[in-house]
Amino acid sequence: MTLELRLAEAVGDDHVLVDASLRASYETDWTRRFRGAARCVVRPATTAEVAAVVQACVAEDVALCLQGGNTGLVGGSVPVDGAVLLSTARLRDLDAVDPLSAQVTVGAGVTLASLQKHVRAAGFDVGVDFAARESCTVGGMVATNAGGERVLRYGTMRAQVLGVEAVLADGSVVSRLGGLPKDNTGYDVVSLLAGSEGTLGVITRLRLRLVPLLAGRAVALIAVDDTAAAVDVVRRLRDRLPSLEAAELFFADGLALVREKAGLAAPFADVHPAYLLVECAQHGDPTDELLAALEECEAIRDATVASDPRGRHALWTYRESHTESINAAGVPVKLDVAVPLPSLAAAVAELPGTVAGVAATARTILFGHVNEGNLHVNVLGAVDDGEAVSDAVLTLVASYGGSISAEHGVGRAKREWMSLSRSPEEIAMMRSIKDALDPRGLLNPGVLL
Ligand code: FAD
Ligand code: MLT
Ligand code: ZN
Repeated sequence: MTLELRLAEAVGDDHVLVDASLRASYETDWTRRFRGAARCVVRPATTAEVAAVVQACVAEDVALCLQGGNTGLVGGSVPVDGAVLLSTARLRDLDAVDPLSAQVTVGAGVTLASLQKHVRAAGFDVGVDFAARESCTVGGMVATNAGGERVLRYGTMRAQVLGVEAVLADGSVVSRLGGLPKDNTGYDVVSLLAGSEGTLGVITRLRLRLVPLLAGRAVALIAVDDTAAAVDVVRRLRDRLPSLEAAELFFADGLALVREKAGLAAPFADVHPAYLLVECAQHGDPTDELLAALEECEAIRDATVASDPRGRHALWTYRESHTESINAAGVPVKLDVAVPLPSLAAAVAELPGTVAGVAATARTILFGHVNEGNLHVNVLGAVDDGEAVSDAVLTLVASYGGSISAEHGVGRAKREWMSLSRSPEEIAMMRSIKDALDPRGLLNPGVLL
């Protein structure tokens, strides 16, 4: 029996996609920079079906690549040529929210937006949020340990996960979905799978910690002279406002591109070098506290505040439209890095020149999550110089004691620069874990290691 027939037996004919036209959307990443030709796409709907798919691939010694919403930005979600691509899109169960423990169990293929809708209806919220919410899946978010816009308050995706069910590379199933907040019984399988980028197992279900649904919200878009001023404002707001939830940084060139591509009006009468977007959230209205705190920040050159949902959304659009606007301008080389906060201003000043040194005509657009020193370095017009640009930027970041991957993961894009952020001993330890759990290297080959 062919592998395709075995897969069809496991998931049903309709969910094994062999035609090139049906496979196409799974074979290119969101940025259009990474591609691969899968042997077929298979769409299991339960953990048992995932296990059957993995067992079929193991029996034929065929590589298996994993994909959730395909919004990842490091090339980890596209297949290697000839692999079976397993899509988690049909793992869409949403169990009832447990209000006492403030937890919920969901399928890995549930999108962040569906999860938000589900838990908000029960009076809760998800601690992680970002612009890909309509498409990215909870499984993908855990596999990449996604960060986003609320890390300042709630941490990254790993901090939201209390339990996991996963199919390992030999087709066996590990399931720990009890959700005990205290459970120190040996190695932490949940933590291990968070951030493993699909190299250790297929995550099929998750037990998630929820946060309170905070209806009182206020957003401020703030104009400042430079990154140092933005960092100073964030430090002051963080000290004064327990309700502070987000602090996002962008610059005049990014705003101009967003306005051009999204057709938006200017937020202020004057153009300013840098912009900070902050959001406060609590049970009551935080607007007065936010305004009072802003008044004490001398570095602010202009500011506009919105408390109503439409006004808040309008201000967030200036920030959240960066990724799509950059994509609309061309295929970007995207590098997501972090530097220690005291070095953020120096890194921002140095990065454009560093890129220009290896790609003279490239256009560098920076933005990011300021409190974590997390910068998104987007380079347009440099796809052919991707290696040189990556090398220059990541080497600079390492010289500041930074990370070559703050929140997007390593994927295929940054594998060769791992040693800038991890010691030989740490990489050897990762390799040992990979070899122990996937000795034949069938899961996501070429990703991470
Ligand atoms: P995919 O892209 O499908 O896969 C990502 C990786 O996870 C791949 O290596 C894949 O093999 C693996 N994987 C997926 N599902 C599973 C599974 N069930 N089991 C095991 N491995 C799996 N990221 C941030 O961290 N912060 C942001 O603020 C942010 N903003 C974004 C905004 C936009 C507009 C876009 C397009 C992307 C953004 N991202 C952000 C990146 C991306 O959305 C996240 O990395 C997200 O977590 C990926 O989820 P996904 O379901 O699309 O995963
Ligand atoms: C963001 O914060 O918007 C993202 O991580 C996406 C990007 O880097 O483009
Ligand atoms: Zn980000």
